Amino acid sequence: MTDLNSYEEFLTSLSQVSSFAFDIWNGLQPPNLNKRDRSYDTPIREMVSVIMNRNTFQHVFLKKGYAVFGVPLKDGETAVASLIAHGPVKDGAREIKKVQTFLSHLARLIEGNWVSQKETEEMAEELAQSFESLCLYSQISTQMKMLRFSGDQLKDLLHNLIETMRVDMIFAWMPRYPKYDTVIINETAAQLISDNQNFHMKVIKQIPLDGPESQEDYFMVNNSKSLPGFAELHPEPYRFLSVKVTHQGILYGLLGLVGFNVEEIFRQGELRLLSSIAEQLAMVITNSELYGDMERFVMNVVRSLVYAIEAKDYYIKGHSERVNRYCMMMADRLKMDQTEREHLHWASILHDVGKIGIPEVILNKPEFLDQEEYGLIKNHPQKGFEILQPIEQLSGSLPGVLHHHERVDGKGYPFGLAGEEIPLLARIIAIADTFDALTTDRAYRSAITAQAALDIMQEVAGEQLDRSLFEIFKNSIKESW
Ligand SMILES: [Fe+2]
Repeated sequence: MTDLNSYEEFLTSLSQVSSFAFDIWNGLQPPNLNKRDRSYDTPIREMVSVIMNRNTFQHVFLKKGYAVFGVPLKDGETAVASLIAHGPVKDGAREIKKVQTFLSHLARLIEGNWVSQKETEEMAEELAQSFESLCLYSQISTQMKMLRFSGDQLKDLLHNLIETMRVDMIFAWMPRYPKYDTVIINETAAQLISDNQNFHMKVIKQIPLDGPESQEDYFMVNNSKSLPGFAELHPEPYRFLSVKVTHQGILYGLLGLVGFNVEEIFRQGELRLLSSIAEQLAMVITNSELYGDMERFVMNVVRSLVYAIEAKDYYIKGHSERVNRYCMMMADRLKMDQTEREHLHWASILHDVGKIGIPEVILNKPEFLDQEEYGLIKNHPQKGFEILQPIEQLSGSLPGVLHHHERVDGKGYPFGLAGEEIPLLARIIAIADTFDALTTDRAYRSAITAQAALDIMQEVAGEQLDRSLFEIFKNSIKESW
C-alpha cells in the first residue's frame, strides 16, 4: 500500500486553514505527526475501530460542541486506513452531513491517487521486465546464432531465464535430444521439492494429452490448487507454464517454468518470451544437429582419405594414428587449449594426405629415389594442403600439413622456413613424424629402437627439429615407457 506519511504535509496545511484537524490512521495506529494534539487519541481509536469494521462513515461527539468524524480509506473493497477530522461543531445534523460529504470526496481523491500510483508502479515494473526480457532475448539470439549449440550453453541460458522470469524452477525436457535435458532450480525450490530432478516429470505427466489443450503450443496453470492432478503433486500451491519445442511439425520436447510465488501469475509477455525462446531453441538444435552430421560426414571422408593413403603405402600403416598419439601427448605437455588441440589432432592425422597422388611404386621403393621421384615425394605437403583447403572445418590444421617437412635451420621444404617462422603445429608434427619413421620398418631400412631414435634426433635437434620441443618430447616419451 501507499505510504500514508506522504499525505502528512497536505493534511497539516489543510488543518491550518480549517477549524478541523485532519489525520490518517493506519489501522488502529495513530498518525506519527509532530506537534499533534494527542488528547483525543483514545476516543478516536475507538471510532476508528468501528470505521474499519463497518467500512462506513462514523462520527461521535466527544463533548458539547466538539466532534470526531471519519471515513474508511479503501484498497478495493477493504478498509485499510481511516481519514479522520475533528473539531468544533455548531449546528449538529447539517454540519455532520457537510463534513461527511467533504471527507468522502477527500477519501475518493486519496484512493484515486493510490490507484494511479499503483498503476504507475506496475507499469514501470512491466516496462522494466519487458526491457529485461528484451536484453535476455537479444543475448539468447546472439548465442543461438552459433553453429554448434551445447547442453552447457542451454544451461547458461536457463540460468539467466530463471531470474528474469521470477520462477523457482526451469527445465528443458527433450526426449528427442536427451543431451539437452536440463533442470535448474533455485534455493526456494531446493528446499520445497525433495525430488527436484523428477518433480518436473511428474508435472509434465499431468498435462492433458487429449482435449483442446493438447492442440495448444503451451500449457498454463496459475495455481495448482485449481487443477486436480497438479494439486496432489505438492502441498504448496505452485504455478506452471510449459511451451512446446517444435520444428517443422516435429515435437522435440518442452520448455517449462515452475513458481511457488502464486501471488504472481504468468503474463502474456512471459508466455511470448518463452515461446520465442522455444522456437529459437528448436531451430538452433536442428542447425546444430545438421552441422554435427555434416561435420561427422566430412570427418569420415577425411578418415577414408587417410585409410586410402595408408593402403597404398604398406610401410606406413598406422603411421598417422601413431603420429597423432605422439602429438596429443605433446599437446598435453604444452597445455594447449581445446581449439589448438583440435587443429593439431587433424593436422597430425592428415599430414601425409598429399601422398595420395604419388604412385605406389615410388612410395614402396626400397632403393634410392631419382630426382624426379624425390620431387614427387617433396610435393606431398603442398598437395595435402590443396586437398584439404576446401574443407572449412580444417582451416586451422592446414599450417601443420603444409609445413611438416620444414627444418628449423631453414633447409626443409616446401618453403625453407626457419625457427619460429615454422608454425608450432608443424614443428610438433615433424618431431612425432621423425620418431615414428625411425621406430618402424620402412621400404628402405628396418626399425631402430626408441632409445636409438631419440639419440639420432638429439643430434639433429636445433638443425632439423625444434630443440626445446624435442626436449619436451623426449621427456614425455621416456615417462611413457
Ligand atoms: Fe610427410
